[in-house]
Amino acid sequence: MKNIFSGIQPTGDLHLGNYFGAVKNWVQLQDEYECTYCVVDYHSMTMPYKADQLRENIWKMVFYLLACGVKPENLFVQSMVPEHVELSWVLGGVASYGELNRMTQFKDKTKQLLEKDKDGFVSSGLFIYPVLQAADILMYHTDYVPVGKDQEQHLELSRNIAQRFNYQFGKEYFVHPEPLFTETPKILSTADPNKKMGKSLGEKHYINLFGDDERIRKQVRSAVTDTGDTPAGEMSPGIENLFTLLRATGRTDAHDALMAEYKAGTLKYSALKEEVAEALVALVGPFREKLAELNADKRKVKSMIQDSSAEVRKRAQQTMREVRELTGLPNLK
Ligand code: AMP
Ligand code: TRP
Repeated sequence: MKNIFSGIQPTGDLHLGNYFGAVKNWVQLQDEYECTYCVVDYHSMTMPYKADQLRENIWKMVFYLLACGVKPENLFVQSMVPEHVELSWVLGGVASYGELNRMTQFKDKTKQLLEKDKDGFVSSGLFIYPVLQAADILMYHTDYVPVGKDQEQHLELSRNIAQRFNYQFGKEYFVHPEPLFTETPKILSTADPNKKMGKSLGEKHYINLFGDDERIRKQVRSAVTDTGDTPAGEMSPGIENLFTLLRATGRTDAHDALMAEYKAGTLKYSALKEEVAEALVALVGPFREKLAELNADKRKVKSMIQDSSAEVRKRAQQTMREVRELTGLPNLK
């Protein structure tokens, strides 16, 4: 059976980009594969943050993922398996400075930090972030990693690291992981469809799955449809994004009918927006109900995740025993 692994940062909210780009796939793949999913809290320590906020956000993300349909036995919290850090140290020895320096996420986040404050603090953790991600993935001999398009470069790095490690230590030990994309691997911001939907740009640039219905409707209704720079005869990125969202909700009939209207030149953008808004509200309803159920017994949920993290840790410890053997480090008895 093939192994699936993926992770998400505990950033406080789960947005439509996360869901349609990755989490929807996480849930579906559980029926067919051995799946391991992770709230990557160590990764969230690479940008400026407050401890109390992180503490809260880790569990918030756990609850959101479970509400979306991730099975508790498949989910764990990264820092409860500290072997991730140990493996990332070992892999740091086979990842080059040059390749890390080429990572676009590092460049983007550095730029963001320095735009906010020209003397801003860029942590060394942010620089080695992709090595920790490679450790997450390689630890569990992962074949496929369901992620959004923005993670393609990090996946390529993980493969290079695996290959270099295997060559240096003379054994085909680590699997070369491949990304797995959904049909909608890049959702754009409705407020600025030239950018991807994400939290780093601010609140209006992402639609929160667990926010309220009125806010979803409002954000979709005010979606930018014409950015003024689309060549004649081409669909503007804003319109395309609305169609993408509609397709992602599974309303193919409505999608196809509205697309036909678009092609005939009769489409009213307000009708498209209304359809998208209602489709999204209908999608998130059951997730909210599930979240309320989970919230009714928080202790039980937390305890399940502590148990699953302990189970996952056994697998990580097995990998680390083998890695220590291969790399020349001694093991405890
Ligand atoms: P993050 O919130 O950055 O930890 O991302 C979690 C997952 O969501 C990753 O697999 C990302 O690739 C995916 N993702 C984030 N933003 C988007 C987006 N706008 N479109 C598609 N996938 C996304
Ligand atoms: N870097 C990923 C992101 O920003 C999160 C992540 C960390 C991840 N470790 C991972 C994704 C391992 C997949 C596999 O979205």
